[in-house]
Amino acid sequence: MKTLFKCCHAFLLCTTLTVFASPAEDLGQFRAYFKDKFPSVPFNEFNNGVYAINEDARIAWQDIEEFPPYEEAILNGKALFETSFTNGRNYGNCFENNGVGVSQNYPYWDRARQQVITLALALNLCREESGIPALKYTEAKLTSILAYMVYTSREMKTNARIPTNDKKALESYKKGKKFYYQRRGQLNFSCATCHIQNSGRRIRSETLSPSLGHTTGWPVYRAKWGSVGTLHRRFIGCSKQMRAKEYKLQSEEYRNLEYFLTYMSNGLPINGPSYRK
Ligand code: HEC
Repeated sequence: MKTLFKCCHAFLLCTTLTVFASPAEDLGQFRAYFKDKFPSVPFNEFNNGVYAINEDARIAWQDIEEFPPYEEAILNGKALFETSFTNGRNYGNCFENNGVGVSQNYPYWDRARQQVITLALALNLCREESGIPALKYTEAKLTSILAYMVYTSREMKTNARIPTNDKKALESYKKGKKFYYQRRGQLNFSCATCHIQNSGRRIRSETLSPSLGHTTGWPVYRAKWGSVGTLHRRFIGCSKQMRAKEYKLQSEEYRNLEYFLTYMSNGLPINGPSYRK
């Protein structure tokens, strides 16, 4: 009985904290947690995922980075990005600074549309506004353009903004956060179970990477995929591991999740596209 009471009490305290924490407070706690957990890893290194915390994996990765398998995607992406649509416009026309060095500001809250806009979605909105059909989120054309755009933001600091005076923006952030911490699927894991509480531990042959930095390197060339893929594709992969329901690429659920996760990596340099096994 006593333990039960304690549990309830802890639960109440926990939910109270969650309800009142602002995004900035969340960010402070999140960073502090990983700093404490991995004291020898410099802040900027967290953008290298598992390679920041596992020396053997890091050595193999550094070899691969000498001839990066995502290089072709950057080149193809640049050519596609600069090709004009039939109406004479091009992708650059849809973005600030012609789309160069802007991806660190994505995803962002779009006040007019009242939703989170990711870079991938922005590319398709650009196409639709120019009267051409959207690309599939698995298509090499789309992932290559993403690779190029992100490449032009390398070294720039992740800068997701949550306009806290916009109720719906805050709500979307909170939905993303809730998604991350909510237990789901047959295994009853949350994203946080693996990437926060158990980060640094091994699961089968893999070391679990810390959530901090999870958004800086996308799109990623994965050896397992044999191609460049998006962050949402990875979300689906992890949902499968959890035996949990998957959502569609660029669904509202995943965009909110990306919004939360990117905000948690604010301040970390963009280093996409990157390589993962
Ligand atoms: C059962 C453990 C487990 C759970 C639960 C889990 N993942 Fe993963 N995740 C992994 C493993 C293993 C990898 C590959 C190794 C690594 O980078 O951690 C990975 C990799 C990732 C990566 C790529 C990291 C990088 O640097 O390449 C992201 C992003 C990610 N997971 C997000 C999520 C999200 C979002 C959820 C919740 C929907 C989630 N994961 C749930 C095990 C898990």
